[in-house]
Amino acid sequence: MSSMTFDVLTLFPEQIERNVKESITGRALAKGIINLKTVNMRDFCGNTYGKVDDTVYGGGTGLLITARSVYDSWRSLFEKEEDRPYTVYVSPKGSVLDQKKAIELSRKKEVCIICGHYEGIDSRAVDLICDEEISIGDYVLTGGELAACVIIDSVSRMIEGVLPNEDAFTNESHMDGVLESPQYTMPSTWKDLEVPPVLLSGNDAAIEDHRRTASLVETWVKRPDMLDKLEISETAWQKMLAMRRSL
Ligand code: ADE
Repeated sequence: MSSMTFDVLTLFPEQIERNVKESITGRALAKGIINLKTVNMRDFCGNTYGKVDDTVYGGGTGLLITARSVYDSWRSLFEKEEDRPYTVYVSPKGSVLDQKKAIELSRKKEVCIICGHYEGIDSRAVDLICDEEISIGDYVLTGGELAACVIIDSVSRMIEGVLPNEDAFTNESHMDGVLESPQYTMPSTWKDLEVPPVLLSGNDAAIEDHRRTASLVETWVKRPDMLDKLEISETAWQKMLAMRRSL
């Protein structure tokens, strides 16, 4: 089985390790399906007092991580230039992470994620070494560590062998540009609320048909913006309308 390596350049390696070592990603680490290497950029600051950051040229609030701390940490990951990992800077300026990007990254052998802190990092380091800049949403975090954990989690679960069930991710929200249909478990009636009878029918074709329509309705109700990108047949629309009316 092939494995994928995540390198994380950070000032808070324990925050990353604590998170990735938990639960499903933790088991993937233990099985060697994913590998995690954290590098503390403070170890590469180039001075004896551990100062990784400095004030912004031209004025401004906060401190920036120096280009040297970032570059030397990154360079410690490999010897030959051709072995450089695919490198991502997590920042609110990046393109917003989606399922397609998670799948794309899951096909890489090694991904290095650089976490900024304070005001971020010297832009020259980003320009020199980063292949892309990724944001996890249009809001600002205090540092890139949580964003790195989100990326590692969403990418890892797309790697073969990480989820216990092979088709666990084929039938879920965002995989085909739609949300997953609502799911139910025992009991079939709870507080007078019933599970759609077709799901108890044992009729696989009818269940499949119901789920396809329910998935489109779910998307229509909760994320109408996603529906714009789909081509929906006249028959499918009729079924969706009928189901929505019955809700
Ligand atoms: N660092 C600070 N805010 C961020 C965001 N929204 N996404 C990724 N990294 C960040």
